[in-house]
Amino acid sequence: MAEIFAGVGTSHVPAIGAAVDHDKTQQDYWKALFDGYEPARKWMREQKPDVAIIVYNDHASAFSLKMIPTFALGLAAEFPPADEGYGPRQVPVVKGHPELAWHLAENLILDGFDLTLANEMPVDHGLTVPLSIMCGKTEEWPCAVVPLCVNVIQYPPPTGKRCFELGQAIRRIVAGFHESLRVVIFGTGGMSHQLQGERAGVINEAFDTRFMDDLTGDPQRVVDIEHVEYMREAGSEGIEMVMWMVMLGALAQNPREVYRHYHVPASNTAAGLIILENT
Ligand code: DHB
Ligand code: FE
Repeated sequence: MAEIFAGVGTSHVPAIGAAVDHDKTQQDYWKALFDGYEPARKWMREQKPDVAIIVYNDHASAFSLKMIPTFALGLAAEFPPADEGYGPRQVPVVKGHPELAWHLAENLILDGFDLTLANEMPVDHGLTVPLSIMCGKTEEWPCAVVPLCVNVIQYPPPTGKRCFELGQAIRRIVAGFHESLRVVIFGTGGMSHQLQGERAGVINEAFDTRFMDDLTGDPQRVVDIEHVEYMREAGSEGIEMVMWMVMLGALAQNPREVYRHYHVPASNTAAGLIILENT
């Protein structure tokens, strides 16, 4: 049977992807950030997941204000890197897992989670940068990916609590899949950052640190964080962190933290990475 064995929370800053693509990771600005990614990449190589469910947000690449799915599940066999205005990233095409994705779609919808089903979905930095962070520069991604796209762009995004409940349902449903698969789930986005408006540049290390501490120490507190608190404490784009709640919900109770890295600044963002394993 399939099992979600671990979760990864990570930022998705586009400039991190550009640093990988253009071989700048050893430059002064980036070195400390990328040095901190090495143990996570080693973990990824050792764990060899078959599939990564990547909970991410689209930044007006596949979708736009014309159509805004709250939750969209990618069912395709392949997801091409999106053109975000400067050509698609030169990274491998993301290979899907249609069978697991359809199993999730059917059971999530019958369980009360009314997903949008996406048979075509170019994936932007929200998904490909977390892959670059965990896998480095590569000819081929080391595992299949089931993309789960969450609206955190246009008010109202789903609550952290709803995201957590979706994660719990994903855990149950993956466990009912007939094939034996090792599945990791990524919750992406964040941490504190604000890209626009009067408070552009907001970083809140105390909020981010407590958030990471409480993923294991006081999960109910982070599940209950409301939109207004994310906005006030972590900036307008800090709301992306609700996607980490899907990851948390998809883990067994009392996961343990096996790795953490936090670095400021990465572009305009406080870059955070955490790995949680089921105990
Ligand atoms: C940055 C961060 C993001 O999350 C994003 O989607 C775009 C840009 C940044 O820090 O520059
Ligand atoms: Fe973003």
